Amino acid sequence: MSTTKGLEGVVATTSGVSSIIDGVLTYHGYGIDDLADYASFEEVVYLLWNHKLPNKEELSTFNKQLASAAKVPDEVLDQMKMYPIDKVHPMAALRTAVSALALYDEDADEQDETANYQKALKLQAQLPTIVTSFSRIRQGKDPIAPKEDLSFAANFLYMLNGEIPDEVSEKAINKALVLHADHELNASTFTARVCVATLSDMYSGVTAAIGALKGPLHGGANERVMAMLSEIGQVEKAESYIKDALERKVKIMGFGHRVYKDGDPRAKHLREMSRQLTNITGETKWYDMSVKIDEIVTNEKGLLPNVDFYSASVYHSLGIEHDLFTPLFAVSRVSGWIAHILEQFENNRLIRPRAEYTGPDHQNWVPMEKR
Ligand code: ACO
Repeated sequence: MSTTKGLEGVVATTSGVSSIIDGVLTYHGYGIDDLADYASFEEVVYLLWNHKLPNKEELSTFNKQLASAAKVPDEVLDQMKMYPIDKVHPMAALRTAVSALALYDEDADEQDETANYQKALKLQAQLPTIVTSFSRIRQGKDPIAPKEDLSFAANFLYMLNGEIPDEVSEKAINKALVLHADHELNASTFTARVCVATLSDMYSGVTAAIGALKGPLHGGANERVMAMLSEIGQVEKAESYIKDALERKVKIMGFGHRVYKDGDPRAKHLREMSRQLTNITGETKWYDMSVKIDEIVTNEKGLLPNVDFYSASVYHSLGIEHDLFTPLFAVSRVSGWIAHILEQFENNRLIRPRAEYTGPDHQNWVPMEKR
């Protein structure tokens, strides 16, 4: 048996949801640059689930379906108030709350197409409510229900802050959501597919995926990028900080990628957003510091920024708490997880690879008193 550490280069499934070919990312054949510039997040979700762009009427129906699925069961919100609010990370809270959603959905274990589509709508619509409610609960504030006449992006900020956001912030969140929606067979998506390939339910698949996204080598990197920027504090200190870290073989969060070796096509959009937003807030040091780090890591290690690097300064500029960066990633990526779960169900086979055994052979049983 031959093994490939981390399954690098292994093609584990076929998929029509998104592709990375020669460094170009597409969602169902549509280039990420066009989608980032022109699409609403709702259109992208529709595309990922239905494999076509919606017309006006289809989009309007879809928006209504999402809006009517957004209410999180009161029991789940009440339970959140009992979490150890001061200590718990919002990703752990999100993972727990999404798992709890299944307990209040009578169709949680129904696997027919209609039931799965209803669950898809609920999960997509309720994740932002959970993330924003958790943020408000821990500040001693009441959760806010979404407004039906606001876009998905605007609603996220509205439910978080209690104020209807300005157009610049809404557009920035929309673009970030579009850029994070799907990414071929990334670690959390693979996790979701492995989970539901046992014919487990969609809530289990999404809960498992949240667990995978939480890790710092995956979605958890964006929060750590901001922690690093905050620790460095000023542009002049960036060079010595990064060179020292590289010398000590410390990984610089937000750099490198398993698939992209010539750069992550999403990063340039986030870099430009970071430039514009930090200009608006007047805190240009976050962008300047990021650009400096980008130059140093590229020169020293030949590693390029991934989606998580510039998203940190983007989210910070939008006033989002740093530990909500990864939950916000989940609010977007759940659309991709669901698309892959639906695709997995359509043509399922249990995912069960093998391991090359490296432990000892022929051990003789040793009675307890002789160990
Ligand atoms: N900083 C410093 N060195 C790095 C970095 C980094 N960010 N990334 C990779 N390297 C080095 C490794 O140390 C290794 O060097 P070596 O051969 O001398 O040991 C070499 O580059 C190869 O790195 P691997 O970790 O083997 O690459 P892999 O494909 O397994 O990992 C990963 C990809 C996890 C993204 C990695 O680059 C990393 O840890 N980056 C930092 C975390 C991060 O930003 N994660 C978000 C990824 S995007 C996403 O999931 C949304």
